[in-house]
Amino acid sequence: MHTPILDRIDWVGYVDYHIRDFHSYDTERGATYNAYLVRDEKTALIDTVKAPFAGHLLRNVAERIDPARVDYVVCNHAEPDHASGLPRIMQAMPQAKLVCDRRCRDTLALYHDVASWQFELVKTGDRISLGGRTLEFVETPMVHWPESMVTYVPEEKLLFSMDAFGQHYATSQRFDDELSLPTVMAEAKKYYANIVMPWGKQVLATLGKVAQLPIAVIAPAHGVIWRTHPEVILGGYAEWAAGRARAKVLVLYDTMWESTAQMAEAIAEGVAAEGVEVMPMHVRRTSLTRVATETLDCAALALGSATLNRGMMPAAAAALSYLEGLRPAGKAALAFGSYGWGKGAPEAIDAWLDGMPWRKVHPPLRCQYRPTPTVLDQCRAAGRLLAETAKDLASVST
Ligand code: FEO
Repeated sequence: MHTPILDRIDWVGYVDYHIRDFHSYDTERGATYNAYLVRDEKTALIDTVKAPFAGHLLRNVAERIDPARVDYVVCNHAEPDHASGLPRIMQAMPQAKLVCDRRCRDTLALYHDVASWQFELVKTGDRISLGGRTLEFVETPMVHWPESMVTYVPEEKLLFSMDAFGQHYATSQRFDDELSLPTVMAEAKKYYANIVMPWGKQVLATLGKVAQLPIAVIAPAHGVIWRTHPEVILGGYAEWAAGRARAKVLVLYDTMWESTAQMAEAIAEGVAAEGVEVMPMHVRRTSLTRVATETLDCAALALGSATLNRGMMPAAAAALSYLEGLRPAGKAALAFGSYGWGKGAPEAIDAWLDGMPWRKVHPPLRCQYRPTPTVLDQCRAAGRLLAETAKDLASVST
């Protein structure tokens, strides 16, 4: 079913209420694949959907126009959640030119047989007139892949923003003012932390380009359309991309026989004693998606694991691997953990910290088998140190 969003501009995408794992992103509210139809003297389809849902998109388009009469299909991003439906859709739209940038064309050619597709290559500043309305293109490399771009309709002050400003939020409502704004922003923050965070510098560059454009409506490729609160999501992105931290400490750990858990608890007590927010997270009792989301705006982390086979426990290693890829900037951190004989997890975490763009604030906290009262006191003191550091970092970044 299509949804009108402006005069002769319709949402024609697909809502997947049931997806719970989006390449390891924990989509507890499902996801949407947004595509839009702009009808004028000429008609343009802006983005498509994942292959299994191409038939739904074609039915939505057919409610408005015979798909065979579509003149342009704009591909802002070649990732399969938006472009794997293209082979079926291009077949149903034989007259349509596929509009994208050169890198997107090259990427699509590696995914699909594009021999029969007519491409119209565009770059930043290029325009295509549909008659009364115009499509303007702005390349936004690395938001989210190298070939990404956004499409702007100046006559409507409408930005088709691709992944940027999106959320994984399956809902029958299409607009930001039809749902709880804090819930939508919480999903947007989660999306930013898990998908966009590694590209903070590129996001700031994109925001700079977007700031030149008068914007009334932002229509992303996932989630709800920002027609009432575009300044709220633009402000959120500015804050997240700048790496602004709160006075909050994450205590992230895995434990075997509760020794590392006792150390985590003592560190958390030390943080709380300084009046700073602390979030203890047992990595096997939460999701990596939540770990990334909580990391986005924390100023400091304590990272711990019991020793297993001379190294970290597997879930702790997975969490650190995930954070390493996301590369949150500007944190303070320390390592902690237990061991039985020889070195192990605390040293491995400490060595991992050397490769992160973070400040290490304390040597690794270690205990052999069980934490003694002295070790627990050291943990509380380290928690107080993390809290003080978090306060300093938060005051710098506000
Ligand atoms: Fe929603 Fe980068 O794809």
